Amino acid sequence: MKYVIGIDLGTSAVKVLLVDQDGNVADEVTKSYPLIQEKAGYSEQDPEQWVIQTKAALKELTTNYAGDTKDIQGLSFSGQMHGLILLDKQHNVLRNAILWNDTRTTKQCQEIYEKVGKGQFISITKNLALEGFTLPKILWVKENEPELFAKATKFVLPKDYLRFRLTGQIAMDYSDAAGTSLLDVGAKKWSEEICETLAIPFSLCPPLVDAETNVGTIATEFAEETGLNPETNVFAGGADNACGAIGSGILSEGKTFASIGTSGVVLSYEPTGEKDYQGKVHYFNHGEKDTYYAMGVTLAAGHSLSWFKDTFAPNEDFDALLKDVGTVPVGAKGLLFSPYIVGERTPHADATIRGSFIGMDSSHQLKDFARAVLEGITFSLHESIKIFRENGKQIDTIYAIGGGAKNKVWLQMQADIFNAKIIKLKSEQGPGMGAAMLAAFGSGWFDSLKDCADHFLEEAETYQPIHENVASYQQLFELYQDIYKQTKTINQGLMAFR
Ligand code: XUL
Repeated sequence: MKYVIGIDLGTSAVKVLLVDQDGNVADEVTKSYPLIQEKAGYSEQDPEQWVIQTKAALKELTTNYAGDTKDIQGLSFSGQMHGLILLDKQHNVLRNAILWNDTRTTKQCQEIYEKVGKGQFISITKNLALEGFTLPKILWVKENEPELFAKATKFVLPKDYLRFRLTGQIAMDYSDAAGTSLLDVGAKKWSEEICETLAIPFSLCPPLVDAETNVGTIATEFAEETGLNPETNVFAGGADNACGAIGSGILSEGKTFASIGTSGVVLSYEPTGEKDYQGKVHYFNHGEKDTYYAMGVTLAAGHSLSWFKDTFAPNEDFDALLKDVGTVPVGAKGLLFSPYIVGERTPHADATIRGSFIGMDSSHQLKDFARAVLEGITFSLHESIKIFRENGKQIDTIYAIGGGAKNKVWLQMQADIFNAKIIKLKSEQGPGMGAAMLAAFGSGWFDSLKDCADHFLEEAETYQPIHENVASYQQLFELYQDIYKQTKTINQGLMAFR
């Protein structure tokens, strides 16, 4: 049997998957690393930790593996998007990486619109200027750490740095480059106009490659430390959302997933880069060559639930917390939750907004709150589905992935709120599987990523919308949408007290 490895470099941990030629996960190892949060709104990581923990995970994988490492033919990556790593002339890291969930850059986002022009910026990058994206972080370092910035010769994204340490080659793939705000997404090239207007040296931008590109083999030292064969082919890999899409078979028109991880994502395939969502949702290059996807993001999906559990039910695990939510009626007995606990992205790009419980009643119990949290997270994902549908997309079937696909009540809730059939895959590995599939396709196992998905992925459960619940949720969604408008100014006023 031959194998490939998918390395999923996430925000809290790196997960490595050993996948065989039939798409079975033969082994998986996860190693975590900390977030560095020096101030409210700051979120950083030490890139060296990614390298150390990936090496440790790969070492454990090869130690467990009984076969010949020559049979592990390729490896590839999925990476947390947008994080900024600045490298000096010798390719040493200049400062901690500033991550996708860092929101210090509101001022720089405004500066981008002022100088480039909002319309022109969106027409080039197909996206809004958001705090989480890479360009505003580059501008922040330039303004706040000018001496350090002067030493920078290249910027890369998290998985590109890891790949650099594995192979010695610097590159960035289009699906991840699309989230930097420096890529001309339609033309697949760095935007000289944006670099010039914002006085960013064009030479900072790394060479661009497709996610499936073979970028070389494993550097001797890295092979020695991990036990991998130095001949193993390394494929560029892609952004976590692009890889999540590959790993759940979102590879043709109409295919859509809803992913509930730390953040929540609704992502739908786009065969071309020609659609115009005017920045209302993200529009990025796919990990499949020359195709695209549109995507809406809610910043705190699983994070809202873990925050709620840790704060109000610290002694319960998730199963205990959610055990009775199925007995609570639709609408949680008149309780609504908005999951804006770290600000929001789609459809409200707003770093200041915060969450609310509306309608609290002295009869409400913990299980009612838990149901309201699940419903609020799902409503916030539904906002993106609404935008897709308003722009002519037919969305009648949605693949559920991530933590939100682990609970049957939540899966039925998604069917009812999205008014769509929900499918859960048999073995759901999302981004890590997508990375492995890039390596499998790159290694010549299949003629296309789609063929690979047809061979690797199997549907396990489906959930149909229940008519009566759909009608109630439509009413509740109208009310939910009002929360943003009604609480925006209050939250601006509360800013001073945070
Ligand atoms: C996407 C985004 C997140 C990160 C999480 O725009 O910011 O999904 O990729 O890793």
